[in-house]
Parts: sequence; C-alpha cells; structure tokens
Amino acid sequence: MSGPDPVIIAESLTKEFRVAERRPGLLGSLATLFTREHRLVRAVDGVSFQIPAGSRTAYIGANGAGKSTTIKMLTGIMTPTSGRCLVAGVEPYRERQRNARSIGVVFGQRSQLWWDLSVPDSFRILRRIYDIPEPVYRRNLALYGDLLDIDALGTTPVRQLSLGQRMRAEIAASLLHDPAVVFWDEPTIGLDMVLKEAVRVLVNRANRELGTTVVLTSHDIGDIAAICDTALVVDRGRVVHQGTLHDLLRTADRRSVTFDHRDPLPVSAVLERIERGLPGARAGEDEGGRVRVEYPVELFTSRQVLAFLLEHFDLTDCYAPEPDLEDVLRRVYEGAGDAGGSPHVRPAGRAESGAA
Ligand SMILES: Nc1ncnc2c1ncn2[C@@H]1O[C@H](COP(=O)(O)OP(=O)(O)O)[C@@H](O)[C@H]1O
Ligand SMILES: [Mg+2]
Repeated sequence: MSGPDPVIIAESLTKEFRVAERRPGLLGSLATLFTREHRLVRAVDGVSFQIPAGSRTAYIGANGAGKSTTIKMLTGIMTPTSGRCLVAGVEPYRERQRNARSIGVVFGQRSQLWWDLSVPDSFRILRRIYDIPEPVYRRNLALYGDLLDIDALGTTPVRQLSLGQRMRAEIAASLLHDPAVVFWDEPTIGLDMVLKEAVRVLVNRANRELGTTVVLTSHDIGDIAAICDTALVVDRGRVVHQGTLHDLLRTADRRSVTFDHRDPLPVSAVLERIERGLPGARAGEDEGGRVRVEYPVELFTSRQVLAFLLEHFDLTDCYAPEPDLEDVLRRVYEGAGDAGGSPHVRPAGRAESGAA
C-alpha cells in the first residue's frame, strides 16, 4: 500500500492453540484428566497486512475469526506461533516495555486497570509507568475526564464499577500517554448512546490532532461508520478484504433505489409492475411513502434498474443510497456461508498427561 508509512506490519502472522478435547459428562471430564486428546486450533492463519500511520481501521470478522488473538499479538500479550509483526518499529512481544509506551489498549472483555485500585490511583500509576510529562497528563486528564465523566467514578475500586463505568476508565487510560497507536477491541460494550458518542468524538479528536492510528474491532456498526475510514476483514484467520470502508461497501451484493412518481396507480400495482419487470428484485413502500426497489447486483446493474423505472414511471425524484454497511457486515459476521468463522482445526494426536 502506498501513501504514509505503515505503522503496523503483520507478516504471515500465525497463532495456534493447543486445546484439550473435552468429553461430555462427569466421566468424560474424569477421562480428560488422564488421557488427553488434544487438537490444534489455528486461530490466526498466516495473516499479512500493513496499516498506514494515522489511519482508522476497522478490524472486522465473525466471532472466532481471530480478531482478539491478532490484537493480543500486536500488543505483545501473546507471541506468534510463527510469522511476526512490527508496531511503530517494535516487535511487541519481544520488547513489551518499549512497545507499551507507543500503544494504548482496550479490551472490552478484559480489564487493563488494577482491579483493587480506584480510577484516580490507576491513572497516577499509569502516569509514572509511562513517564507522562505533567502538561500532557493534565491536558489529557481534563479532556478525557470531561468527555467521559471520569470524576463521577470517584474512588470506587475498579472491581466495583459497572461495565459501562469501567469501559470509560479503560478508554481514558488507553489515551493518557498520547500513544501512537490505539487498539480498541470492543470498546463500547456496555456504554449507552451518549457515552458511545463521546468515545467516537474522543478517538476522532486524538486521530485528527495527534495523528493517532486507530485499530478498532466492534460489533457496533455505528462505531465503525463514525470512526473508521479503512476496513480489514478477516475470515477464519485469513484476510479477505483490505481497503477503504467505501471499497467494502462496494462488495455489497444488494443495492437499492428509492423513488417518487406521479402515476395515478395504487401502490400494489406499482410494486407488482416492478417485481414483474425486474424478476429477482423486491419492491416495497418506505416510511415516507416512496417506493424502494432492492435488487441483487448479480442480476441487474443500477443502469438497468434506472432505465426500467424511467420507462415505466413518471419519476419526480429518485436516488440510490450507498449500500448499507449493516448488510455488508452482516454477511461478514455470518461468515460466507459454511462454517461461519470457525478456525481451522486439526487433530494434534494424543498426549498423555502427567508431565505438566
Ligand atoms: N487462549 C486460547 N486458548 C484456546 N483457544 C483460543 C484461545 N483464545 C482464542 N482461542 C480460539 O481462537 C479462535 C479465535 O478467537 P478470537 O481471536 O477471540 O476471535 P474473535 O476475537 O475474532 O472473536 C476461537 O476459536 C477461539 O476459541
Ligand atoms: Mg474478540
């Protein structure tokens, strides 16, 4: 990819887990204790990509597609089985300390904060660990504290916060040291609409003002649309699409056209005329009383659909909205048909337990 230098490079990144095969029932569990059947789960399967500095990338894929595992390698929490990655010039799992200074991390499922400490105490420790200059710390505390209402969290230990409260603290913590890259894995879990909006404003501001590179996974399509300009789509551990969010929309398999007309016809007759004339398309009336035609791109081009409408109706208004991100993502999340995102699995033979 040309343009700005890549700040993240993944080369044939692979992660396999060795998992004990469970047998059903109590006897099965006992059997598992003694003779273990193992299998290797390849959660990430030779993934290569580059992410340009300053971009905002949505890391998209079905549950189990390997998103979190990839992010754990990129953040140094896990070492790859093979392949490697570089983040801001550092191989994260080799130089965890150096890496920690240039990245910010949020895992919706797993806290990065000190469980028994209050949020202000956690922040003070982060300040020391990252050696954040006083003016930067104050500026960020004020900015992020204000947007996320951190003061309201008081001195309650993190373990007693609600999920939404904890996520606010996690997000602020991830940005406190002006990291070059933030990895946010499901960061808006548990947040209401107002806070989601605050999070979007905040990360966009960091990106615009500090050039922070953002890597985001989210099942919230609103997050992706509001934050990201680029999409990296993985399926069963492999990259299946990388490009702008706009390119991704163009992979939509359905399009739609909405129009108004002045023909003196009952709606049912209009819809019938369309579905008969464009077999495979679906017509309906939207909330505003306009007619909406949805068609598979493998059957019709937008030109054909428009030509048909012009020929058969007296159009007064007509527009073709951008394909729906939600439709496109639903297809991705559902997996392209078959195993729906389950990773490659192969037996790893038998292993006797005993040696730990
Ligand atoms: N620590 C682990 N041990 C064994 N299997 C794991 C572990 N972490 C993840 N997996 C498996 O790897 C696959 C990918 O998981 P994950 O990276 O969490 O996917 P995603 O974040 O895309 O939902 C899943 O099948 C998951 O069960
Ligand atoms: Mg995940």
